[in-house]
Amino acid sequence: MTTHEVGDGRSYVVADAIETLQDYQGEAAAVFLDDAWARPKRYGHFGVEYDTHPFDDDQDAEGYVDTSITTTEVLDACYDALMDGGWLIADADDWLLPRLITYLQEEWGDVAETYSGGGYRKVGGVTYTKADGSPDRSTAGMYLSTGGYPVVFAHKGETDRQSSESARQIAPSPRKTYDWGSVKPISPYESWVKGLVDPGELILVPCAGTAPAALAAEKQFGEDARYVCVDNQEEAFEAFKKRREDKISSVRQESLS
Ligand SMILES: C[S@@+](CC[C@H](N)C(=O)[O-])C[C@H]1O[C@@H](n2cnc3c(N)ncnc32)[C@H](O)[C@@H]1O
Repeated sequence: MTTHEVGDGRSYVVADAIETLQDYQGEAAAVFLDDAWARPKRYGHFGVEYDTHPFDDDQDAEGYVDTSITTTEVLDACYDALMDGGWLIADADDWLLPRLITYLQEEWGDVAETYSGGGYRKVGGVTYTKADGSPDRSTAGMYLSTGGYPVVFAHKGETDRQSSESARQIAPSPRKTYDWGSVKPISPYESWVKGLVDPGELILVPCAGTAPAALAAEKQFGEDARYVCVDNQEEAFEAFKKRREDKISSVRQESLS
């Protein structure tokens, strides 16, 4: 395990996500998760060359790189790391979405139905646009294009963290990948950080990659951003470092001086 301090109260840990989440029991105001979920045959395609793991113990492990953890175990660790009323904001896709919602409804509660307590709240998402503002269909397949991805929102128990920020965001698809896979845009997470987290509160970003949510917090809160990112690949940290230098103006200026 290596901890890279990137600022006061901001770090990027190279380690297993679950092990690190266990160090923050009940401390996080929000967890932003873009899990290394293993849709069958995902590994090696779509720029996915990092470790992927099965959703749960029932999923056939064939073709996956890392069978030592599952998405459901990561979700359990996220739950434990959240403070009461804290939010989980989890990126998904067509394969993961129904599984993720069902798991959250069963294990965290279904506030979308009960309107009380906590648990699964709603599905939002990110729609990618081209420079002219029209939907980006560059990932179109034979069966309709989505040009973006769904995002699932849930919270731990009742919450008074309320916001009218939109759960559905529009953003240009990221042009740069920083030599990493599945790179997501920063601006949607800025809206969600602004709506659901106060400056100085802890944000956790397991399976971080280039950690757009952490960079969103830094853009929003500057020196008051507090985050811990975790990825089990040192190369992911290198990609994060490049993106941070590119996107956070104070860091860019520092590196130029
Ligand atoms: C979907 S990608 C995240 C991409 C990120 N949203 C971005 O915009 O750059 C998932 C990440 O999980 C990491 N990962 C895989 N298994 C892990 C584990 N057991 N612990 C921590 N990170 C893991 C991968 O290295 C990869 O960077």
